[in-house]
This record gives sequence, C-alpha cells and structure tokens, in this order.
Amino acid sequence: MIKKIPVSDLVSGMYIHDLNCDWMEHPFLTNSFLVDGKARIAKIRSLGVREVYIDTDRGLDVANAPTEEEVQAELQQRMESITPCGERPRQVALAEETQRAQHIHTEANHIIRRLMTDVRLGAQIEVDRMEPLLENMMDSIFRNQNALLPLVGLKRHDNYTFEHSVSVCALMVTFARELDMSRQTIKEIALGALLHDVGKSMVPDAILNKPGSLNAAEFAQMQEHVVFSIQILQETPGITATAMQVAAQHHERYDGSGYPHRLKGEALSLYGQMSSIVDVYDAISSDRVYHKGMQPSSALKKLLEWSNHHFEPKLVHSFIRAIGIYPTGSLVRLESNRLAVVREQNEGDLLHPQVEVIYHAAQQCYLTPEHIDLRRGNDRLVGHEEFSKWNIDPKVWLPA
Ligand SMILES: [Fe+2]
Repeated sequence: MIKKIPVSDLVSGMYIHDLNCDWMEHPFLTNSFLVDGKARIAKIRSLGVREVYIDTDRGLDVANAPTEEEVQAELQQRMESITPCGERPRQVALAEETQRAQHIHTEANHIIRRLMTDVRLGAQIEVDRMEPLLENMMDSIFRNQNALLPLVGLKRHDNYTFEHSVSVCALMVTFARELDMSRQTIKEIALGALLHDVGKSMVPDAILNKPGSLNAAEFAQMQEHVVFSIQILQETPGITATAMQVAAQHHERYDGSGYPHRLKGEALSLYGQMSSIVDVYDAISSDRVYHKGMQPSSALKKLLEWSNHHFEPKLVHSFIRAIGIYPTGSLVRLESNRLAVVREQNEGDLLHPQVEVIYHAAQQCYLTPEHIDLRRGNDRLVGHEEFSKWNIDPKVWLPA
C-alpha cells in the first residue's frame, strides 16, 4: 500500500515510493528506493522534502499514515472548493485569437532561443527590443487567454529551456492579471519571467539536457543557473526590481528550503513567490528527457499539496483561479464516457468549462467533434485524462 508520511517519521527499512518533489530538484538516480541509513535520510531532508510516499509492501509501515487514495481525495476536494473571484470577460472570441496567438508563440520561442545563444557568446540583452513581444503576449492573453495557454503545455524535449521561458512568461501574465496588477507591473513581471532562466545559457548543454539524473557536482552546477541569471540581469540596463525578483527568486521556497539564498516567508517578494509557483507548475507538467510530464490538473494538485510548505496557499489558489481547475488544452473524461479537450474557461465557474468532445473511451474511436458548454448540464466532467494513454496527439487538437 502507498502511504504518505512526514520525513520526520522516515526510518531505515522503509521503501520510498515517491520523493514527492520535482524530479529535477534532486540528485537521486530514482524517485523510489529502500531507505538504508541515516545519511540518506539526512540527504532527503537537505533537499527540502517534507513529506514522502512509502510503499508498505516493500518496506516498513506507519500505522496511522493516510493512504495515497485518501490524500488524493482530500486534494481533489480542496481543488473543487476553490471559488472564482471577479469576472474577467473575454474581449474576443477564441476563433478570432487563435492564429494570432500561434504566431506570437512561435515568434517568442525564436526570440528567446536567439537571445540565449547571444548571451552565451557574451552579448548584452537589449530590453527595448523585447518590448513588442511582451506587449503582444499581454494583449493576446488580455483578449482571450484560452488561445495562447494551450500552446504553452506543448513542448519538445530538445527545446525545453526556451519553451519553458515562454510558458512561464505567458502563465505569469495570466496569474498577475488574476491578481489585478497594473499593466506596467504585469509587463515588468513578463520581462523577468521571460529571462528567469537566462543563466542556463552559462550551464553546459551536457548537463542541461542530460538524459537521466545528475550527479552531485552536476546538480550544483545546474543550480548555479540562478546566480548566473542574477549576474546577467544586473548587467542589463532596463531591468526593474520587479523583473529582477521574478528571476532571482524562482527557485526559492516559502519555508526557506529553496536556493540560492534560502529566503523564507516574508523575505520573499510577491513576484518571486509567483514565479516559484509558475516555474514548478510548468516544469512538472512538461515532458522532459526520459521523463513524462503530469497532466495539468495533477500538477495543480501537486502545487496544492506542496503549498503546505513550499508555497503560500492563498497564492496557489489564485494561480488555480487564473488558469482553471481543468486548464485549457487539457483532456477530460465526461460522464457519458466521452473524452473532450478543454477549450475555454467559463467566467465565474471553475468546474464547468467549455469543451470539445473528440473520442469515445468505451468504443475507443474518434467522434465527430462537438462543442459542449458544461454549464448547461448536458454532460458532466468526471476527471482528467492522459493524452498518451489514449494515443491522442494533443497538437492535432489545438484550437483551429
Ligand atoms: Fe530555473
């Protein structure tokens, strides 16, 4: 049986089923292993891990610990109890924004790829030249965020570093808008988000794209990318304090277990806390070399689970409000046993989005696509699904 326990209850002879942290954030070869001594427990603690999942069939048990199913049920309940705040009506229909958003997304990836190559060669970042891109991304999200956001979930392994930067930027704009920040502040946040990982241009490709776990020295080198980002941005004219906080604090954690400065609680800026939430969300929901990403809804549940320690819970709630409990572009199952892609969030209703029905799960066949507004009650959403489990290519089902 899989159970969740605090790290303080961990003893030799227990079998770790899941370290319960972003797999890129630890130097173990695997997420599951037998605990064999105090040194290993100390190492787990040093990573900032507070709770782990153990397999009681393969090691010692803890009698009163909750099972994985109980934990999941509680998290689902917490997710569904998040209520929307305020209305943010769409300015244009999805169909009108789709092509523009695709163009902006492609352009953003080209720009950030070129920028990181230039930085590696010693060039200085010209903030002014990024203004049109930031304005375009903000405008697109303000007009209808459902056009750009499905694109950020799709990444190619070899392009992860660039595409992640663009994704974090788009998600941060959406998050900041949910928090009613001013357009000027949102622009500064967007700039910091786009450049948050620019320090990775100083980390060797062999480490950045290593297939498999990093050893301790490589892990330390990887973590250094934040220090490089800070140095590069300090030398960049036009970087505001807000943009700097977004980049400098994206690996810090609310309980002080992050890096590089182990900042804790109030010592963290609001913008840094936002970027740490968004960075983790995008990282764990992305496919990377030899590692499959989580479904968006599962990644949001992980954020809620970790918000007990690593993130400020109210801020995680705001992020979930911003992108939805079932984010746009994700696959869901309906009560009718049909699978559907989430097309648009309905304002003021996080549990009943608009979806496009595409597949029959029982008959295992595609259906003629049908648009359904789940607010009307003609079917019911029962949970999220994996595209890969059904051999469905999410790229084919982007909004057209
Ligand atoms: Fe990073």
